[in-house]
Amino acid sequence: MIVLGIESSCDETAAAVVCDGHEVRSSVVASQVAVHHPYGGVVPELASRKHIEAIVPVVNGAVAKAGITADQIDGVAVTQGPGLVGSLLVGFSFAKGFAYAHKIPWIGVDHLEGHIDSVFLEPNPPPFPFVALLVSGGHTSIYHVTSHQDFHPLGQTRDDAAGEAYDKVAKMLGLGYPGGEVIDRLAAQGDPEKFFFTRPFLDKEQFDFSFSGIKTAVSRHVQTHPKTYQEDQTHIAAGFQAAVVEVLSYKIIHAARKKGCRHLAVVGGVAANRGLRTIVTRDAADAGITVHIPSLDLCGDNAAMVAAVGYHRLKAGERAGMDEDVYSRVRLRPAIDG
Ligand code: KG4
Ligand code: ZN
Repeated sequence: MIVLGIESSCDETAAAVVCDGHEVRSSVVASQVAVHHPYGGVVPELASRKHIEAIVPVVNGAVAKAGITADQIDGVAVTQGPGLVGSLLVGFSFAKGFAYAHKIPWIGVDHLEGHIDSVFLEPNPPPFPFVALLVSGGHTSIYHVTSHQDFHPLGQTRDDAAGEAYDKVAKMLGLGYPGGEVIDRLAAQGDPEKFFFTRPFLDKEQFDFSFSGIKTAVSRHVQTHPKTYQEDQTHIAAGFQAAVVEVLSYKIIHAARKKGCRHLAVVGGVAANRGLRTIVTRDAADAGITVHIPSLDLCGDNAAMVAAVGYHRLKAGERAGMDEDVYSRVRLRPAIDG
């Protein structure tokens, strides 16, 4: 089954053609980073307008790159939420129109499920059940994943997402937006022990996170060292990254142990972080757990992951109606007892 995936929840307009839920025939991502960079964050109104400009060429590009024609597509999967409503509506409305015009089924997909399913686009995907750490600019959560349809949230951040903390720290250090990649690069050149930032473990038995404290600690350091913080950028980045990565790695490995899973996944934009990839892989190997992290181009927002989720839904006979609407808030919330 050939599925066209469409993603426009934030500041990336993306389309992809995926065969049978795992074979990526094409994946096109039009980034709006240059548009939002001067503002230090995503400006929702600008994002919607850019999606409108990009959606047709991006979809046409994905279809052409896949070496197919539009009438060979069997179904459409599109991000329904969570995200910016104005942005979501562009991809969502386009998908509805495309499916209607081509008389094919379509389905709305949760963006977070998309990130989790990105591991199925790689060779040797994890067997069920496994635990997944979703770390992105908007979310930081842990799930127990028991099937393509069943994601049980175990914990989430109580304040900032990990990617958000990276972006805010980058801003404090004058490194621009988005900041995750830059901090990651600087951290590799710094001494992680020169400045120690307290690890926000919260309860070590639970899977909730908190990153606002460490962000404030970096801010305090910058304020109290106005003359030296610029030249210490690499060490501050290294100290910050060491603290964040230690907590993320500890919690996902602990979740795997607690749930008796031999496999874990790390997904989302921050899964591109070299420090995180190295530490999780090392510590999980010590615990006899296999780690699955998508290749870099599948960590950030993309439409191949949306098509992967959509494939399973469409195959199971699920169909969306034309009265469906987008949603802005997270639906995958932790259950009371995890
Ligand atoms: O998944 P994503 O593309 O969008 C959301 O769904 O939020 O994640 C974007 C986030 C940004 O906060 C960005 O700074 C962060 O991922 N990021 C990184 C790295 N590359 C991107 N954070 C840390 N290290 C990286 N190498
Ligand atoms: Zn995302």
